[in-house]
Order: sequence, then structure tokens, then C-alpha cells
Amino acid sequence: MGLDPPYLGGREAQLERFQDLLRNPHAARNLLVTGLRGVGKTVLLNRYSNAAEAAGWLVGEREFSEPDAEPANFAQTVLADLVRLTRKVSGGARVRSAAVRAAQAVLEHLGTLSVSHSGIEVGVRFQGASHTPRRLDDDLRDALEEVAGLCRHGRHPGIVLRYDEFQVVHERRGASTLSALLTAVGGAQQRSVPVILVLCGLPNLLENVAKAKSYSERMFIVERLGNLTAPEDRLALTEPAEKAARTFDEAVVAAVLRDTAGYPFFIQMYGDALWKGAAASVIGVEDLRRLRPRILHALDRGFFEARYARGSARERELLRLIARHGESATLRQLSADSGLMNNQLQPVISNMLRKGLIYRPSRATLAFTAPMFGAHIRRRGK
Ligand SMILES: Nc1ncnc2c1ncn2[C@@H]1O[C@H](COP(=O)(O)OP(=O)(O)O)[C@@H](O)[C@H]1O
Ligand SMILES: [Mg+2]
Repeated sequence: MGLDPPYLGGREAQLERFQDLLRNPHAARNLLVTGLRGVGKTVLLNRYSNAAEAAGWLVGEREFSEPDAEPANFAQTVLADLVRLTRKVSGGARVRSAAVRAAQAVLEHLGTLSVSHSGIEVGVRFQGASHTPRRLDDDLRDALEEVAGLCRHGRHPGIVLRYDEFQVVHERRGASTLSALLTAVGGAQQRSVPVILVLCGLPNLLENVAKAKSYSERMFIVERLGNLTAPEDRLALTEPAEKAARTFDEAVVAAVLRDTAGYPFFIQMYGDALWKGAAASVIGVEDLRRLRPRILHALDRGFFEARYARGSARERELLRLIARHGESATLRQLSADSGLMNNQLQPVISNMLRKGLIYRPSRATLAFTAPMFGAHIRRRGK
């Protein structure tokens, strides 16, 4: 996961849109990148970072975790990222002393902010004689403005804040986190501060963002990533081999695309196993026949079992019922098979959606989020 693939399939449009943002530092547009696990979000983010850095931008990146998302830690987390960016400016080669002094002043300010926003949960701290609590959105906006201001010293066009696994951050009552970040970035951009916010995560990220701040969708271009489609699915498999003067038999390509349904993570698993397991320069049907059970076994152990274990007993029961119908089932089928009424099913289904075990290709249908998960469940028997 997250490993740069030898051939990046089907992401040219996304990369082009990102380049467009880099060419227009004052465009005031940001990115929301969403998709199920394994479709290539992190890999795309890494390409974004490379492109931004190649164009001279300062990039702050982080993979969010549940603790980072706690209101008591959120401000510190974002401020720490701004501190790192500031250090990058002052640590750059050939920086003049004026730049170092400016960076020092910003670091001091960020330190003060960090203290004043620590432990929001245990009580609001007051700054100086004023008795109004500091607002995180205002403070973050000022901080963004200051850090972006430093960019001039290093001839950086602007800053990119690039947050992965950001679906863990959601607004909670009484403590602003996501809304403060969105308001701060929006406010800074209105003042022409060259900053690009890239938020990436599982599909519920979209809902979290929409709930945190109304009209926030206007701030973002949404990139919905999914499985690769023809011809990019095929190229992801065959192109790296061809570069090394090896080829796949047509029948092997067809079978791999059938099994993987264009799911990038599986294409890499198959490609890797076939590449290593086949002796001749042409990877043939016989190789696939011999290696496929091993590949499936590796997927069972390394991928499907952990996924299945994420479900509660009740959820696993529903997963098994869906698997009876193949890789998807209708709500009507589930209700009939389980004997549960719609209102009893709904909470279980919501949890399964949230855990990324299933998704809704259409209103009345539920499907597994990885190809062949149903086949795995039928294989395991219980
Ligand atoms: N566009 C792509 N073309 C080919 N392989 C890809 C592509 N995107 C991702 N992959 C491969 O799929 C796997 C999962 O990618 P990753 O970025 O970790 O997914 P996500 O972050 O969405 O869970 C990695 O092995 C990666 O190399
Ligand atoms: Mg990822």
C-alpha cells in the first residue's frame, strides 16, 4: 500500500488538474481526493507532492490518525506542520539572515499559538488581558498568512498542506477542528495567500467536510478515484513487464483483469506474483493456473481475513448473506434472507459502510468494496 507503482494508470486528468492549481497560486481552489481503500489515493498524493516540490512549493504532509483528530490535539497537529514548513524556509541553502530572522519570528508566534490552543477540552486559556477565547480559525488563518509570507524569501510560489486519511477528522459538538481549518484556509485565500489544501480519505470525508462548513464544496475540486478502466487497467499490468522485455499472454491479461476488476492493489499483487513466479519471458496461461491459488491464498491471509475480522458478529452474518448472491446483493434480498426489517438492517448497514466493508453502487444495492471478497467468504465457509 502506498508504494509508487511502476506504471501509474489512469491518473493523467487528476495530475493535470493539480498542475493547473500550481500554475495559479492565487486560484483559491483546493482538492478533496476520495475513494475506497486500495484505489490509489496515497500514490496520487505522493505524485502531487513531487509535482508541487518540483515547482518550488513548500509541502506539508501528514497521515492523520484518530488521536490527531481529537479536538484537544488537532490544533497542535496543524500548527506543528506549519512549524515544519517554517523550518524548511529558514533551513534552505543560501538563505539570507533576513529570512532566518523572519522565520524565527514566525516560529515564536506558532509556539505561542500552540500553547494557547493546547488542551481545549480541559478549559479555554485566555490570552493577555482579553477575556475572549482565541478562535482557532482566526489563529490558523494568521499563521497560514505568516508562513506563506515567508515563501518570498525562498522563492517558493506557496504552500501545500496535504492530509491523508483525513476521514478521521470530523466536527464534534463544542470543539471546532475541521470547520476551523476550512474557515482559516478560505479566509487566507480570500486575502490572496497562496495556499492549497489537499484533503484525502475514504468517501465519508465528503460528508464530514460538507457537515463542518456550509458551502465548503465551493472551495474544493473533488477527485473521486475508483478502479482502473480500459485501457489503463491492462497497461498497469503489462507496461512494466514490457519495459523489461517480458510479455503476458493475452488470455492471462484477460483473466487477471476479470479477477481484479481493475482494482489497483490487486493488479499489483497479481503482477508481482506472476512476474516472480513465471520462468519464461512470456508469462503464460500455465503460469497463471499454477500461481493463482497461491495469489488467492496470499490475498486471503494478507487482505481479506483482516477485512472480515473488522465486522461484528452481526455484520459478518450480513456479509455472508451478501456473498450468497455473488459480489453484491439488493436490500430486498438481504431483508428476505435475514428476516430483518429495513429499520433493523439500516444501523448494521451504516456501520458496515463506515468500516468500508461495503458500499452502495446504487440506492437499493450493497456491494463489497474489494473484488472477490464474496468469493473469499464463500471459500472460508464460516
Ligand atoms: N493508478 C495506479 N496504477 C497502478 N497501480 C496503482 C495505481 N494507484 C495505486 N496503485 C497501486 O495500488 C496499491 C494501493 O495504492 P494506495 O495509494 O496505497 O491506495 P489507497 O491510498 O487508496 O488505499 C499500491 O500497491 C499502488 O502501487
Ligand atoms: Mg492510502
